[in-house]
Amino acid sequence: MKNISLFPPIATLDTLPTPCYLYDTALLEETLQVAQREASKYHYEIHYAVKANFNHRILQQIAACGFGADCVSGGEIQAALDAGFPAGKIVYAGVGKADWEIALALEKKIFCFNVESLAELEALDELAGKQNRVAPVALRINPDIIANTHRHIITGFKENKFGINLDLLDAVLKTLPALKNIAFKGIHFHIGSQITDMENFHSLCLRVNEIQERLAGMDLLPEHVNLGGGLGIDYYAPEEKRIADFAVFFQLFDKQLKRYHRQHIHFELGRSLVGQCGTLLARVLYVKDGSTKKFAIIDAGMTELIRPALYEAYHKIENLSSGGDAEKYDVVGPVCESTDSFGKDVPLNTVSRNDLLVIYSAGAYGESMSSHYNCRRLREPYFYGK
Ligand code: LLP
Repeated sequence: MKNISLFPPIATLDTLPTPCYLYDTALLEETLQVAQREASKYHYEIHYAVKANFNHRILQQIAACGFGADCVSGGEIQAALDAGFPAGKIVYAGVGKADWEIALALEKKIFCFNVESLAELEALDELAGKQNRVAPVALRINPDIIANTHRHIITGFKENKFGINLDLLDAVLKTLPALKNIAFKGIHFHIGSQITDMENFHSLCLRVNEIQERLAGMDLLPEHVNLGGGLGIDYYAPEEKRIADFAVFFQLFDKQLKRYHRQHIHFELGRSLVGQCGTLLARVLYVKDGSTKKFAIIDAGMTELIRPALYEAYHKIENLSSGGDAEKYDVVGPVCESTDSFGKDVPLNTVSRNDLLVIYSAGAYGESMSSHYNCRRLREPYFYGK
């Protein structure tokens, strides 16, 4: 048996209906505190990217720690408010915002809209006018940087749908004076997710410095710069590397980013705050012999954790119930799709029916991306640690 110290006692786990998420709220608390401590060294402000995990208790804990929220829909804005995030600390991004979502955000007086196109800016101006309000806006700029991460989670390359391309920026800036219900407050960037190569963030800083120089020349320096999220976690050694390297991350920005007088610097971190505090607990249904391999068929599937199917993502898996010799298994779910697999040739202590397996690092983009495909039902999460 392995790493049982990281989890509640096996007798407790055995009583839980599976598949279910386990959340270590003590680890979450520690992670939040480290992130806040490192960011506050430079007076940086962090908005938690709600999309990573919108479980109400998780949101409440993050709000109570003083974070702002980064939302991408009206639903997320409402969830953030319900959990106690102040409206004045909510940023609202997204390449497509519906009128009702914009109206809600205006009514609630959020901190800022991260606007991704001229078309959106014009719609926002019109809707703000109808409410007799002035909408605070940061322009999301596509910095044309290809981050070194999975191709499906790169966002800052010029062919991605996100942000205003650099060659179109001047045209957007020129329209600002005519848009009476828009207040230009900031610039916003996000180059992708699960980035562990700090060089990518270095490139972002250099690009932001160039853009800010241009803006300074036009007398348009913004009050704030929002650098998005993207800091990666260690999926390969989750027990050893439980907390992301916030110190290195924020120090890099402090060293490389030119900060103008009185400018506020914001980040939108998701995965690095919640990724390691969540684990997916699954029960083995059967061990099936194939001609050349063994399958461990578990009761969790892509409906609970879609990352392996969608991005070929690696998640470490362990058998909590067995101390038997290590063997190799393809760990697969019950869903009727060939991509419903958590890993091939995974070394696990001998697996038997009803064993409990843990799938690590599932706190971010796990529960929040779960679905009801095949009429499946995710069980209530189990919280422990605090
Ligand atoms: N800000 C913006 C504008 C974003 O689009 C995202 C994530 C974040 C912040 C937070 O990024 P983080 O710190 O979590 O990397 N489902 C994928 C990840 C998609 C990320 C989408 N945007 C996955 O499971 O890997």
